Amino acid sequence: MYNSKIIGLGKYVPENIVTNDDLSKMMDTNDEWIQERTGIKERRWIKEGSEDTSAVMGAKAARIAIERSGLSKDDIDFIVFATLSPDYYFPGCGVQIQDMLDMPTIGALDVRNQCSGFIYAISVADQFIKTGMYKNILVIGAEYHSNGLDKTTRGRGVSVIFGDGAGAAVLSREEDTSKGILSTHLHSEGKYADKLIVASPSISHWVPEIIEAGEEDLSYFPYMDGTFVFKNAVVRFSEVIMEGLNKNSLKREDIDMLIPHQANLRIAQFIQKKFSLRDDQIFNNIQKYGNTTAASVVIALTEAWEEGKIKDGNTVVLAAFGSGFTWGSVIMKW
Ligand code: UT7
Repeated sequence: MYNSKIIGLGKYVPENIVTNDDLSKMMDTNDEWIQERTGIKERRWIKEGSEDTSAVMGAKAARIAIERSGLSKDDIDFIVFATLSPDYYFPGCGVQIQDMLDMPTIGALDVRNQCSGFIYAISVADQFIKTGMYKNILVIGAEYHSNGLDKTTRGRGVSVIFGDGAGAAVLSREEDTSKGILSTHLHSEGKYADKLIVASPSISHWVPEIIEAGEEDLSYFPYMDGTFVFKNAVVRFSEVIMEGLNKNSLKREDIDMLIPHQANLRIAQFIQKKFSLRDDQIFNNIQKYGNTTAASVVIALTEAWEEGKIKDGNTVVLAAFGSGFTWGSVIMKW
């Protein structure tokens, strides 16, 4: 058995910045409400006419991650792509990456676990590397939310939160099993699927029916019971971080860097307080990008690394919670 280790990271966000004041021109909202409830100051939304999509942004982040890994695209054995906003209903974005990066005909897998998508994707890649089946795996998280949001006052409880962007990591075989990914922990609770959902179009409720219903049927916009999601998030985040620490006989003070999914700054601050972490033991960038779902953890991890906040030998913890419900954590020795 081997371990896997992240040897390259990259990110890409669209250049179009949308501030809270910009949103207040589209709907009844304001900078004070958004900052106070979520911590978000601005987000990136793909501009109309741009070539960017989840797959295109994922490819841009992936090229950077591969270059930084010191490998060539031809050294990659497998692709795992996490998104809830794929370019097509099918096929998934993973196969588009194989084509866009002109890679050999390697396998490509899409993961649909929303905010926990990157954690699940890393865990899948880790298992392939552990068993020796693959040596180098490209893991991508990317989201194109902005075109699917209700940007009127009706949708303000959801639309002000989400942003577009992508991140990528190259995982590689590590012979020293005291280094790299030490463990991953995955959970779900499907009875709450309808608490954060895009219900349509579904095969049993297809496009013509939605069009016919007109304004009566807005089930193609994301729905979220924010308060319920928030209450579950703080509990599950704490549990799954503790689970990871316990599994590796680590204590909360052993955490050098916690990268929580960027769902809401208040959730991250709650976790920081609960685990008595100093400001330099946790990384947040929701202020700049909003919630980028499957991309958020890998964008934050990339930025923390770029800013020199993650060093060799550090204990790094990734954790996420979101739609499904799904949640999970990754414990790594950098
Ligand atoms: O990434 C996946 C996981 N997602 C999460 O973890 C998100 C968890 N939930 C949250 O982050 C929070 O619940 C929200 C930020 C979504 C909402 O914050 P909240 O403190 O739970 O507010 P609320 O939904 O209870 O709404 C409070 C008030 C309402 O007005 P009334 O009924 O008190 O008059 C809303 O209509 O704020 C109103 N409101 C807004 N006002 C201005 C809702 N959205 C907005 C808005 N601007 N954008």
